Amino acid sequence: MRFLITAGPTREPIDPVRYLSNRSSGKMGYAIAEAALDAGHDAVLISGPVDIDSPHGTKLICVSTSDEMFEAVHRYARFCDVVVMCAAVVDYKPAEVSPNKIKKRDQRFSLELIPTRDILASLAKQDRQFLLVGFAAETEDVEDNARKKLRDKSCDLIVANNVSDARSGMESDENEVTVLFPSGEKKEILRAPKKIIARELVKIFSNTREKCLTKKV
Ligand code: CTP
Repeated sequence: MRFLITAGPTREPIDPVRYLSNRSSGKMGYAIAEAALDAGHDAVLISGPVDIDSPHGTKLICVSTSDEMFEAVHRYARFCDVVVMCAAVVDYKPAEVSPNKIKKRDQRFSLELIPTRDILASLAKQDRQFLLVGFAAETEDVEDNARKKLRDKSCDLIVANNVSDARSGMESDENEVTVLFPSGEKKEILRAPKKIIARELVKIFSNTREKCLTKKV
């Protein structure tokens, strides 16, 4: 199968030297790409700026802004069997990007922000062949909020991730996740290094994709 995985944060420029972003390390997405390759699949990795090497054998597409990630995902998704939106896409970007460095003044300063496009939701609206997997980064009511995202964004599976716990937070080497299915079924993956979690996730994603194909025949 061909996997497309997004990973890491996006950066939304404010001026030539500043941007809005988040603490995503990209470790989970990169581990999923590596696990997919180890399982004999192909992997396209669309990555925001991170500090880790891409697994040998991946097709790496480097992007920075949410708009660049949107374009890259839409370019490659149609050739893939499983799309995993693991990236922490920034939700708002400045309404205007200043062409020059904004100078410091001794006054309050506000920045007008507008929503970025939701890449996952935009993919779900398409006529598609691929299995669409979302991630839900939550700090409270983790399962309820993740189920709401599964419904609202119409994806096939969602991986609920409690990012308030430092041991499974964005920069950690470990994680603990629950995969939620639209049927109400769920699969918990207990705390383990992200590489081990990734192996379990790839098994679940490829098995689910197989089942979808069997149903369609
Ligand atoms: N996502 C996306 N495009 C965005 C924002 C999020 O594709 N502009 C995707 C993420 O890659 C993830 C899923 O949507 O697969 C959920 O992201 P998350 O950050 O958990 O939630 P948000 O939709 O941003 O909502 P909130 O911040 O209110 O929890």
